[in-house]
Amino acid sequence: MSIETHDHDRRMLERAARRALRGHGEAEPNPSVGCIIANADGRVVGEGRTRRPGGPHAEIEAIRHAADAARGGTAWVTLEPCNHHGRTPPCVDAIIAAGIARVVVGSPESNRVASGGMDRLRDAGIEVVVRQDVKAIQRLHASFHARVSTGLPWVVTKWAETSGGELSTPPDVSPWISGPRSLRMVHRERGRIDAILTGIGTILADDPRLDAREVRRRRTPIRVIVDPDVETPPTASILKTAGGQVIIACRDDGRSEFHARSARLTAAGATILPIQEAAGKEASDGVRGTLRGRFSAGRMRSLLRRLVEDYEVATLLTECGPGLLRSLFEADLVDAALVFTAMATTDVAHSPATPLPRDLLQKASFETIWSGRRGEDRVVWSQRSA
Ligand SMILES: NC(=O)c1ccc[n+]([C@@H]2O[C@H](COP(=O)([O-])OP(=O)(O)OC[C@H]3O[C@@H](n4cnc5c(N)ncnc54)[C@H](OP(=O)(O)O)[C@@H]3O)[C@@H](O)[C@H]2O)c1
Repeated sequence: MSIETHDHDRRMLERAARRALRGHGEAEPNPSVGCIIANADGRVVGEGRTRRPGGPHAEIEAIRHAADAARGGTAWVTLEPCNHHGRTPPCVDAIIAAGIARVVVGSPESNRVASGGMDRLRDAGIEVVVRQDVKAIQRLHASFHARVSTGLPWVVTKWAETSGGELSTPPDVSPWISGPRSLRMVHRERGRIDAILTGIGTILADDPRLDAREVRRRRTPIRVIVDPDVETPPTASILKTAGGQVIIACRDDGRSEFHARSARLTAAGATILPIQEAAGKEASDGVRGTLRGRFSAGRMRSLLRRLVEDYEVATLLTECGPGLLRSLFEADLVDAALVFTAMATTDVAHSPATPLPRDLLQKASFETIWSGRRGEDRVVWSQRSA
C-alpha cells in the first residue's frame, strides 16, 4: 500500500470517528459507529452513523446515501461491520449487495455474537484492511470494548473543583463552584447518559435533583444513590423531580429499622436495591459505628454489573462528593473524568491526609481527550489510555 493510501485511510477513519461522536447518547447500548463511503473515483458519496437501537447502523445509512455510487468504491468504518441478525439485519450483507470493493476497518468487533464480519467480506472477494493505529477510533470505541470485556458500564466521573482542587467551598462562600456555562454542559451530558450515580453524602448536603434540564435529551438517566444504610430522606428533592427512576443501592442487614426506612422510601417512589457481598467478604466491608457501612470494591462492582444486566446501563456519570469518588478510584472503577476547574475561586486549607480527586486522577494517568473553557471555568475531559 502506498504512503498516500495509508494516510488517506487514516484521515477518512478520523472523519468517520467525528461523525460517530455525534451519535453519543443515541446509539447506546450499541457502539456509536461512523462510516464514510467514496465511489470508485475517490469522491465521498455517503456518510452515516449508528442511530437509536433498532434504527439503521452507520454502514446502512451511508449506503442509502451513496446508492449506486457505492459500487466499486471504498467504505471506511470505525468498527468491524456486524455479521448477525440482531434488531437489524447484518451490515455485511448490505455492503456485499452494494458492490463495495474495499472496506477499511478501524477496530475489530469484540462482541463475539456480532463478529466474523471481516471474514464474510473477504469471502465475498472484498479487500479488507484493518487499521488499529488511529487514536480517535481507539478512544471512540474504548467504552464499548471495555463493557464487552468487563460487563461493567463505562464510568465517567464528573466534578467541579476550586482552583486548589476542593469540591466544596467555605461556609461563607456561594456553594456553586462552576459557572452557568459549565452547568449547561453538565445537563447536556446528563441527557446522553444511561445513569447518574451519587452518594448519600451529596444527597444529605446538597439535596440535588440530578435531572437534565433545559437541554435536548437523548435519554432519561436513571438516578442511583449509593446509600448503604438507607438514609436518604423520603422528602429528598430527587424523589420529587420528574426524571429517571431513583434506585437506592444499599446493604440488607436484616434489621427492622432498615426495613422501616426502606418501606418509607419505596412509598416515596424509590426502588430499593440491596447489593449482596460475595460470600465471606462481609467483614472486609469496613463497617463503621453502629449504622453506617461501606461497599467493598467487590460490592461496588456487583452494583455496576446489576445496572448493566437489569437496567441496560451502558454509560454512567458520577456526580458525588470526594468520599465516594475516592472509593471508585481505589476500586479502579473510573474510566473517564470530566473536570470543571473554577479558576477564580478562593480555597480552604486542605488536609494532605486525604488526597484530592485531582490527585487520584493524576495517579490514574488518564489521557486528555479534550480541553477548553466554559466561561471562567477550565474543562478537561480525560479517559483511560487506550
Ligand atoms: N463539586 C462537586 O462536583 C461536588 C459534587 C457532589 C458533591 N459535592 C460536595 O461533596 C460534599 C459531600 O461529600 P461526601 O464525600 O460526603 O459525598 P458523597 O461522596 O456523595 O457521599 C459520601 C458518602 O458515601 C459513602 N461512601 C463512600 N465510599 C463508599 C463506598 N465504597 N460504599 C458505600 N458508601 C460509600 C461515605 O461513607 P463514609 O461516611 O463511610 O465515608 C459517605 O457516607 C458536599 O459538600 C457536596 O456539596 C461536590
